[in-house]
Formats: sequence, structure tokens, C-alpha cells
Amino acid sequence: MLIAPSILNIDNLKLSESIKIAAKAGITRFHIDIMDGHFVPNLSFGPQLVADFKRDFPQLEAEVHLMSNNPDDMVPAFVKEGADVMLLHYESMPEDKLNYWLDYLKHHQVKTGMVLNPDTPIEVLTKYMSMLDQVLLMTVYPGFGGQKFIPESTQRINQAVNLLQNKIPVEVDGGINAETAKIARKAGASIFVAGSYIFCQNNIAGQINELNGVLR
Ligand code: DX5
Ligand code: ZN
Repeated sequence: MLIAPSILNIDNLKLSESIKIAAKAGITRFHIDIMDGHFVPNLSFGPQLVADFKRDFPQLEAEVHLMSNNPDDMVPAFVKEGADVMLLHYESMPEDKLNYWLDYLKHHQVKTGMVLNPDTPIEVLTKYMSMLDQVLLMTVYPGFGGQKFIPESTQRINQAVNLLQNKIPVEVDGGINAETAKIARKAGASIFVAGSYIFCQNNIAGQINELNGVLR
């Protein structure tokens, strides 16, 4: 089981100290949400954030969740700054481009993942299985932190785990807390993104321990 905290809802002026506390509590990978104001109606970070993160925390993994329709500029920019994992949305580009960029990432030794929105059929993964290190199922519609886990996600997790035959880990993102993490885990998820649950209670280490407890 892996917890990848999303830094989206951290007070931007406290990013470094919050990351340090989470790392001390055992976190080895952080989930960095990139929103371009077009694919989703919100703006977040750019490649410089990943560069700064890898400069200050080279031992930690940067998992980039790319929510952008502009892969041609964005993918190389984040790879250049040291992204360790790049998660591409199925809905964000045509299939030939997805193939191209997954291939590019493999070539640059960057771990790959495909992200599906809550209303995208799980079967679309079939064609890409040989190119993926992980699959991310959105358990909310992307764009904002602090939303509610969509209950129908449980069945989708099950379906994806069956399709991937336990060979490719399934990650969940959106509305994850102690209760929904337990549900997602039971359905077969093994990587858990959590943002507001970890960073918005003024008790980062305590929240991480709590989540670790239910995932054990
Ligand atoms: C939503 C993002 C998520 C989000 C998670 O578009 O992809 O990573 O920040 O935040 P919580 O855990 O608060 O739902
Ligand atoms: Zn995300």
C-alpha cells in the first residue's frame, strides 16, 4: 500500500514545511496536480514546482498528475524537471498521442500511468496495458481538492483490478479519507492519493498515521 499525498490544498507558502512533516511520517511519494485552466477549470502549478521539489527533496518521488490538453509542451517540460511518475488523462488527447507520449516516457525512464475520469469506461485501458506502470481512477471529477468520493467508484475499482489481473496497481484520487480509503482498498486499490484529509486538519503526521492504520 502506498499513500501519495496531494500537495494541491497545502497553503502555498507552507509547501516546504508541510512536505517535510509528511516525509518524516514515512511518505516517499508526493502527488503533484497540474491544472491548466482548460482541461479542468482551475490553475495550479507549473514545471518549476517540480524542479524545486526535486532540488530540495531528491530522495522523494514526484508523481505528476497532468490535467492539460497540451501534452506536446507539458510532458517534456515536466520530464525535464525530474518527474518520476507521469499520469496522463485518457480524455486529454487523441489515442495516437497517448501512445506517442507513453512511449516517450518509457524511453526517458519515467514511470507511466493512465488516468480515467469517473465517466470513462474502464475497457479503454485494454489497449495500453503493456505500456502502463499504474492506473489512476478518479473518484471525483478533477479540478478541485476537498470533493466527495463518488460511491460508484467502488465498482469501477473492482472492474479495473479484474481487467489488470493484479499486474498493474490501481490508484485512487479524490475524496479519500480513512473511511473511503478502506472501501477503495477492499475493492483492490493499492495507491491512495489524499489531499485535504492530510493537509487541512493541522495535524499532518496524525492524519497520515490514521490512514496508514486503516490500510494496514
Ligand atoms: C483533483 C485532484 C486531486 C485532489 C485530491 O482534481 O486530482 O488530487 O487534489 O484532493 P482531496 O483528497 O482533497 O480530494
Ligand atoms: Zn490528482
